[in-house]
Amino acid sequence: MRTLPAILLSVRWIALIAIVLVVNSCSPVSDTDKTDEAIQKKVNELMAQMTLQEKIGQMTLFTSDYDVTGPTMRDNYKDDIKSGRVGAIFNAFGADYTRKLQEIAVNETRLGIPLLFGYDVIHGFRTIFPISLGEAASWNLEAIQGAARVAAVEATAEGLHWTFAPMVDIARDPRWGRVSEGAGEDTWLGCRIAEARVKGFQGDDLAATNTLLACAKHYAAYGAAQAGRDYHTVDMSERALREFYLPPYKAAADAGAATFMTSFNELDGIPATGNKHLLTNILRHEWGFDGFVVTDYTSINEMVPHGVVTNEKEAGELALNAGVDMDMQGAVYYNHLEQSLNEGKVTVSQIDQAVRRILTLKFKLGLFDDPYRYSDLKRQQELVMTPQNLETARDMVRRSLVLLKNNNQTLPLRKEKINIALVGPLADNQQELIGSWSAAGDWKKAVSVMEGMKTVAPAANLLFATGCNIADDTTAMIAQAVAAAAKADVVVAVMGEAAWMSGEAACRSQLDLPGVQQELLQQLKATGKPLVVVLMNGRPLTIPWLDQNADALVEAWFPGTQGGLGIADVLFGDYNPSGKLPVTFPRNVGQIPIHYNMKNTGRPMDPNNKYTSKYLDVPNTPLYPFGFGLSYTSFTLSEPRLSDTVLLPAKELKVTATVANTGNYDGEETVQLYVRDLVGSVTRPVKELKGFQKVFLKKGEQAEVTFTLTDADLSFYRSDMTFGAEPGQFVVYVGNSSDNVKSATFTYLQK
Ligand code: BGC
Repeated sequence: MRTLPAILLSVRWIALIAIVLVVNSCSPVSDTDKTDEAIQKKVNELMAQMTLQEKIGQMTLFTSDYDVTGPTMRDNYKDDIKSGRVGAIFNAFGADYTRKLQEIAVNETRLGIPLLFGYDVIHGFRTIFPISLGEAASWNLEAIQGAARVAAVEATAEGLHWTFAPMVDIARDPRWGRVSEGAGEDTWLGCRIAEARVKGFQGDDLAATNTLLACAKHYAAYGAAQAGRDYHTVDMSERALREFYLPPYKAAADAGAATFMTSFNELDGIPATGNKHLLTNILRHEWGFDGFVVTDYTSINEMVPHGVVTNEKEAGELALNAGVDMDMQGAVYYNHLEQSLNEGKVTVSQIDQAVRRILTLKFKLGLFDDPYRYSDLKRQQELVMTPQNLETARDMVRRSLVLLKNNNQTLPLRKEKINIALVGPLADNQQELIGSWSAAGDWKKAVSVMEGMKTVAPAANLLFATGCNIADDTTAMIAQAVAAAAKADVVVAVMGEAAWMSGEAACRSQLDLPGVQQELLQQLKATGKPLVVVLMNGRPLTIPWLDQNADALVEAWFPGTQGGLGIADVLFGDYNPSGKLPVTFPRNVGQIPIHYNMKNTGRPMDPNNKYTSKYLDVPNTPLYPFGFGLSYTSFTLSEPRLSDTVLLPAKELKVTATVANTGNYDGEETVQLYVRDLVGSVTRPVKELKGFQKVFLKKGEQAEVTFTLTDADLSFYRSDMTFGAEPGQFVVYVGNSSDNVKSATFTYLQK
């Protein structure tokens, strides 16, 4: 007699064989049959067989047990996979592990629909690159795209199909810990970097086994949380939203980002996850986005405490009606959507539409051809942390460093016959180097600054002393560091934040160096030895003392696996620093929000007039402006020359300047182009970045850089909210920092 499980097993097999036959009999989608039409046919055929529960399963994303960013609500996710009630898993990686989970979905569910594996591959997967803000400081789009490419190659070899990146939130408040995850404060630069990252992750072909789905997040305006406190309220005009905050999401969508993630915050009183204006009117209708929208971690559930619904069931209805396709971790669709449907609060066609979008991408990834194509142990062994990936990361470290100060050519250091006091809590540190969101990165593989210096300059004599911890008030170690400094020719102090001090839920109300770090620096300074400070941090810090007292100051962000090597390359002059700040460094927290593209006001600052827009106790200018960064060489820039004094609609205006390397090193300058619309139907920023070019010049060399402006570069949301340029006078600036520019004027005429 057959036992019940055996009967069930055979029933399942019959069902499975039937499905396989159905799926295979109707023009199977092979790698060569990936037309939209063919995929839609397959999706429709599959959906025709799906139960409501299976459909809701496709709209459900649960975390595995590897790595979590919130409370793990479900420990029975494997049963959920088996029952077809979850279609996507995040925080699971590794060729073997993802294969095992995939086997459950493929072999043990009724329809065998493959799982989608997602993960926060933000700045590298195992080879960790500098944090996203650091990469942005390279202003090198090719390198940024290349970094995303390496991350995609590594992640896909370990079974991942989907990264929750890029984070494209404009961030003007350095108190917000997630400044570290984005591209900084500027909309135009943010757009270009968003495009570069999407292209890097997705490549040209989603069906390739080394590309993954990108996810533009966190939609929308998450970076504008009041007072820089994470998850806090966002409230801004539709104009500011569209002009400053939305364009990078749009750029990501235009670059083909396959998915979008909603943000935790509310916007104008409606949480983003239930915000139809954002998710349907703008994203779908205006921008034509056709991928799927996932929530952030339990953000459907969080609409209850937000206070716009009374319970999770209503929250799910609000989300689906707004345009959310997939529920991350909250199990709201899982628990309540069926009832909502029965009550007529949502429709079958809404559910079908969401499922169709999700399945379409699963087909595009080729998961129905071979569900295991991304879980490849051989590729994992061959492609992860290769010497080439590490070299690409090291190169990105060098490019991301920003030289903020270098008095008397303190840097670069010579490599021989030199005693260097290497001090500070981050000097011999590996753990913090990889920063927050370091995916599957292993900090034990990170190269510390000490190791990097030993490798790059083996003949230099390093006198190491920690000096102090990152964040406590222990002063007992200071004396030893001072003693090392006394014996040295130069002090290199590696200071800053711990990795946990930036990233999600890591906001700070004070942005000074933590703990007793400044006290240590003051005592080192008192030795009279040249003081080089290397900073690691996930955000702008308020460092006026350093600005005044360090002889050289290098912003190194959290530089990743190859951090110490890239930093040493710069300290010893093997690479001449070329990074520029993608975000303003304030003098103090009271200046925040401070960004270069402010408005002029009706009472622009006049030092001789009290009743103008300024503070009593701090200048209006930042400590280090957006776009700023020094080099070991010096560059001069000519006045900009314009091809005409007039620009007409649909015509071009060429802006040319000569950049010359006038110093003693070969080096790279980032020539930046800004415009200002002097009079508009609404007020315009005092400067807006509209282009940049990186120019490498040998010492003594010069080159011309030419930018092309069109009316698209002058366009904005006018007083009637139409988008376009307005005739009038414009100033065009060319410079090597937002505060160091030369200008010319032209007129935009609409005949
Ligand atoms: C973060 C997202 C992240 C998600 C999944 C959330 O807490 O806000 O950025 O993608 O967790 O890990």
